[in-house]
Amino acid sequence: MQELVIATTNEGKLKEFKELMKDMDVELTSLKEWADVPAPEETGKTFAANARQKALYYAKMTGKICIADDSGLEVQTLKGEPGVRSARYAGEEADAEANNKLLLQTMKFHMKRTCRFRCALAVASPAGKVLAETEGICEGMLLHDKLGEEGFGYDPLFWSTELHKGLGEATMEEKNQVSHRAKAIKKLCDMWEKIK
Ligand code: IMP
Repeated sequence: MQELVIATTNEGKLKEFKELMKDMDVELTSLKEWADVPAPEETGKTFAANARQKALYYAKMTGKICIADDSGLEVQTLKGEPGVRSARYAGEEADAEANNKLLLQTMKFHMKRTCRFRCALAVASPAGKVLAETEGICEGMLLHDKLGEEGFGYDPLFWSTELHKGLGEATMEEKNQVSHRAKAIKKLCDMWEKIK
């Protein structure tokens, strides 16, 4: 069985990867087991560039094949903002509450509210090779106010046009049917035999 490191300290994300990759002959660990490795700066202009950078860095630091993701929300009217700045839209130390508040304020007078979550995944080897890259998109509309208590980040502001409900109201199982991360992970599973 091949050991893979998922470049996250988020237990929820690790659980999602484990669930979606359960039929594959791999053992997944997270950065919790590499706590002494410092996090790299995220300097990329795209999700794909950041995912690649993270995967290459952690593969080198751990000596294991590593899968990294980078994701965020893109609002069409705002030319893709918050984009790669999703986690720090309202400032370096901003939390989800502050980011959501600023986004609602910025979008107050906008009628066109199409938006999407995008997730880029990259797999890299300790030898410094990018073995695979995939992307997943979750389509939706930005709500005018918070809806529901589920999920995290921008979920309470996101109406899923695939689920016909807010992600803040969706169960984890429902979100996993349409989420950008789940789609990117599924694409990776489909190509795994060719890259491992
Ligand atoms: P990361 O790639 O997991 O670090 O995500 C960056 C930021 O994008 C998060 O802090 C959230 O603000 C936002 N984000 C990414 N995925 C989701 C999601 O599934 N729901 C809500 N917000 C998300």
